[in-house]
Amino acid sequence: MDRIRIRGGRRLSGEIPLSGAKNAALKLMAASLLTAEPLTLANMPRLADVRAMGELLRTFGVAVTVMLGAGLGEGDVMRLQAGTITSAYASYDMVRKMRASFQVLAPLLARHGEAKVSLPGGCAIGARPVDLHLKALEAMGAKVDLADGYVLASTSGRLKGARIEFPFVSVGATETALMAATLADGETVIGNAAREPEIADLAHCLIAMGAKISGLGTPQLVVQGVDTLHGADYAVMSDRIEAGTYAIAAAIAGGEVELVGARRDSIAALISVLETAGASVVDSERGLVVRMREKLPSAVIVTTAPFPGFPTDLQAQLMALMCVAEGTSVIKETIFENRFMHVPELARLGADIKVTGDVAVVRGVEKLQGAPVMATDLRASVSLVLAGLAAEGETLVNRVYHLDRGFDRLEQKLSGVGADIARIGE
Ligand code: UD1
Repeated sequence: MDRIRIRGGRRLSGEIPLSGAKNAALKLMAASLLTAEPLTLANMPRLADVRAMGELLRTFGVAVTVMLGAGLGEGDVMRLQAGTITSAYASYDMVRKMRASFQVLAPLLARHGEAKVSLPGGCAIGARPVDLHLKALEAMGAKVDLADGYVLASTSGRLKGARIEFPFVSVGATETALMAATLADGETVIGNAAREPEIADLAHCLIAMGAKISGLGTPQLVVQGVDTLHGADYAVMSDRIEAGTYAIAAAIAGGEVELVGARRDSIAALISVLETAGASVVDSERGLVVRMREKLPSAVIVTTAPFPGFPTDLQAQLMALMCVAEGTSVIKETIFENRFMHVPELARLGADIKVTGDVAVVRGVEKLQGAPVMATDLRASVSLVLAGLAAEGETLVNRVYHLDRGFDRLEQKLSGVGADIARIGE
């Protein structure tokens, strides 16, 4: 199995083109199930998760074709056509590997009238139940049964518009309700909706397909159901988690990096934390420029929260930065239980981190030392890559498949700005 080798200590300089957002792309692909006409998605990231979603959709009878983009900065183009849905069954094997595949449930149900989709089951970052998804579908008149680890959902006739008030913010459940509502009979009001930019991206694509949605970017989405949706061409938003990760790379390694395609409003919470830590982030014509002139970052206090708060998907990366900061940082994780698996691995590099419940206290050390490490989820893996950029000597990150799930050609992007990083075989 491939590994990533990083030799730390190089400052970064140059530009990094961002890819399309994984967490938007996967849901947009699922949305192709809502129409018999083709949905063509541009700016698609080249990721294992995208390929896996493509495979899953093919098992439902969706014709999926991909045209590869020329360079790092040019996304792939994917055409998806769900002319006839020939199967509405997503196996445990599929959903277990990639939780986002659960997002096929609502579009299958809304268009096809029934679906059998595996429950995602336990996962490396906590229990992650899907109760809110199922309650939303039930509120819209679906019959939902659980048997042998599967969700069996059906509706006689169209789903019905409903008033759904989520007890807490869930990205996935908001997307489930939104996709289901587009083809429902009547109006659906989704209260306490997630406001993550990927939700607005999905809503914009659905609108291009003929859906009637208002309230984008607010905690209340209102959907007037329509009889059918049609095909559309849509370009996926750029990946804000990738942007944030490379912004932190510039901060931990030092130097100056332009993030081409980055948008300030999508990572505002991170930018203010990076500024407190001593970096500067300025707008450029094509994105954002992150500079770190200070020798050492300063410690920060951060709590993860739903958008526009500090994203849980950047928590591990920020912790890597805080490992080499001057002073003591406090990082509180409020979205997922058990999302500190990177802590013991960062400790192998010499970090000083104490975890109590959902709080990590990070005492900055003068230097990290390279070592072989591995991680069990995608954001945790990339935090080890970032720590490796700052560590003395060689860091070997094992289990690279986690990185390949969510970071498009990471080693090429980082070596392009001067990092000493390479993918090596066993
Ligand atoms: C999505 C993102 C993930 C990100 C997360 C939070 C994708 C593919 N993944 O995950 O990268 O970290 O948003 O920004 O887009 N919950 C329930 N019941 C439910 C649904 C969720 O209890 O029915 C809980 C979860 O266990 C978690 C919290 O709600 O503690 C938030 O989860 P949610 O926002 O749904 O995350 P995902 O959509 O799974």
